Amino acid sequence: MKKLASKMSFLKTMVCDFKVAAVASSSSYVVNRVISKIDDGLNLIIEQGSGDGVMTKALLTKLSPDGALILIETNPEFVKQLKKIEDKRITIFFGTVQDFYKKIDANHSKADLVISSIPFSFLKTSERDEVIKKSFEVLSDSGSMVIFHQYSLLMHKYVKKYFKHVSIFFEPRNVMPCFIIFGKKK
Ligand SMILES: C[S@@+](CC[C@H](N)C(=O)[O-])C[C@H]1O[C@@H](n2cnc3c(N)ncnc32)[C@H](O)[C@@H]1O
Repeated sequence: MKKLASKMSFLKTMVCDFKVAAVASSSSYVVNRVISKIDDGLNLIIEQGSGDGVMTKALLTKLSPDGALILIETNPEFVKQLKKIEDKRITIFFGTVQDFYKKIDANHSKADLVISSIPFSFLKTSERDEVIKKSFEVLSDSGSMVIFHQYSLLMHKYVKKYFKHVSIFFEPRNVMPCFIIFGKKK
């Protein structure tokens, strides 16, 4: 029942905001697939497009007790839901990823992981490149980027441009089967 309510709430939010770009949050198959490939004990994770927090909650299990998780989300309804996750390690940035990167100094904060499920197809070519470039710069030398809940391989070439090791997975068990792209700096 709780699951159905959360599905309906996601759908309602999507109807009011086309930028949500999904009719349902990521399935447990997508979440588990991503999480199984992430190391434990990370110190800084940046999540772009957190939605209702389905991946966020799983990411918390990968964060060290004194680590930090930065959430970037444009939809006010989702931001309200994200604020309900009680964890002192979370900081929420209400706005676009593009604006977030204009406000921070990428050379200062070294993240272990940048994870994104934003609808890149809605961005201009230059913005897509800029988001991946800035995400690369904000990562530590051993950091990684994951792009999930993508309905095409549009972002593959952008990830390949910056990251040394790139791998792709396809997860059919999702409302709209989707691709997951992993990029590792080394
Ligand atoms: C496909 S949904 C994925 C939501 C959630 N992460 C999941 O896996 O179910 C994309 C999310 O990105 C947010 N979003 C869209 N464009 C964005 C942008 N430029 N910057 C940050 N968030 C954005 C939407 O509001 C939505 O919550």
